[in-house]
Amino acid sequence: MVKGLLMVKSLDKSPLDLSKSGVKTPVQETLLTPRFYTTDFDTVAKMDISGYETELRAVIDELKADYNRHHFVRDDEFKQGWDHIVGEKRLAFIDFLERSCTSEFSGFLLFKELSRRLKDSNPLLSEAFAYLARDEARHAGFLNKSMADFNLSLDLSYLTKNRTYTFFPIEWVIYTVYLSEKIGYWRYILVFRHMEKNPEYQFYPLFRKFESWCQDENRHGDFFKALLRSQPQLWNNWKSRIWVRFFLLTVFATHTMTVFERGNFYEILGMHPRKYNTQVIEETNKTAAKAFPIILNTNHPYFFWYLEQCALYNQKIIDLNNVQDWGIVKFFQKIPLILMIFWYMFKIFLIKPIDTEATREQVC
Ligand SMILES: [Fe+2]
Ligand SMILES: [Fe+2]
Repeated sequence: MVKGLLMVKSLDKSPLDLSKSGVKTPVQETLLTPRFYTTDFDTVAKMDISGYETELRAVIDELKADYNRHHFVRDDEFKQGWDHIVGEKRLAFIDFLERSCTSEFSGFLLFKELSRRLKDSNPLLSEAFAYLARDEARHAGFLNKSMADFNLSLDLSYLTKNRTYTFFPIEWVIYTVYLSEKIGYWRYILVFRHMEKNPEYQFYPLFRKFESWCQDENRHGDFFKALLRSQPQLWNNWKSRIWVRFFLLTVFATHTMTVFERGNFYEILGMHPRKYNTQVIEETNKTAAKAFPIILNTNHPYFFWYLEQCALYNQKIIDLNNVQDWGIVKFFQKIPLILMIFWYMFKIFLIKPIDTEATREQVC
């Protein structure tokens, strides 16, 4: 899974936009929608992983074992009509399926391209990316079939050709994909555990699949952790500490804004959006200690309050977008709101992080 990063501008769409029968037009691309990435493939090809091959091989063997090869099967539970799911619940669920499918598919495209470009120059990494692409294709395909249950499907070939690809240097790809795999793991497992305890909210069998599914994301994250640790310049200097701090912050801010914007979806699942967001961020931050030289101090009394201020100003921007009149006034009204989001992010950035290298033995 590869989730979008940042910021500010949000979905501005009618909830069911059908260009032709059954094919859902992808939501308008904005800064909070999942993004498609490309990178400098030659730099990856030249990456020296010789000192870390044993660790990488161990993780790649786990991927090779393909524990979930029989997991993504649409069993009998799926074989029924879903027209009884209506109204807000239906729209919120379709939105969830679409965003998840897009991020899974975005991961598939990036990993597939990495695998293809590294075939001759770096066969070990090429093999790993092929397994990652295999998993993400399964995830995206399964979600797209779920969309078909709601008489919709995402046109993935249209998406491939028409989405804008954002260029990220490979260092950024490693930081962000590591984080999105781990946050993806926590997002899925927490929904699964909640559904296990509260089966009355399980209105569609997809959630039952999340337990093994999220283990794929966990293994993907472990692979990126090994890749990151194989490149000392990604964790042993002050520059890397700044980047890590920045990416943790942007991933957590994006997550908070997205969860609060879709609070109704989590309420439909019987989950408290704020508690869910807090738990996902705390757990992901703790997990990140295994890979990163620093993590954020989520226990700081203002940490979540600042994050939620970002969500609040994001909501004000959404409300403004929903006003029909598109004048220059609206543009100028948005500027201070965007600045407030950056201001609160900057305040979080200034909170002293926690050094994880100092206690590396304990956390490994
Ligand atoms: Fe995935
Ligand atoms: Fe993944």
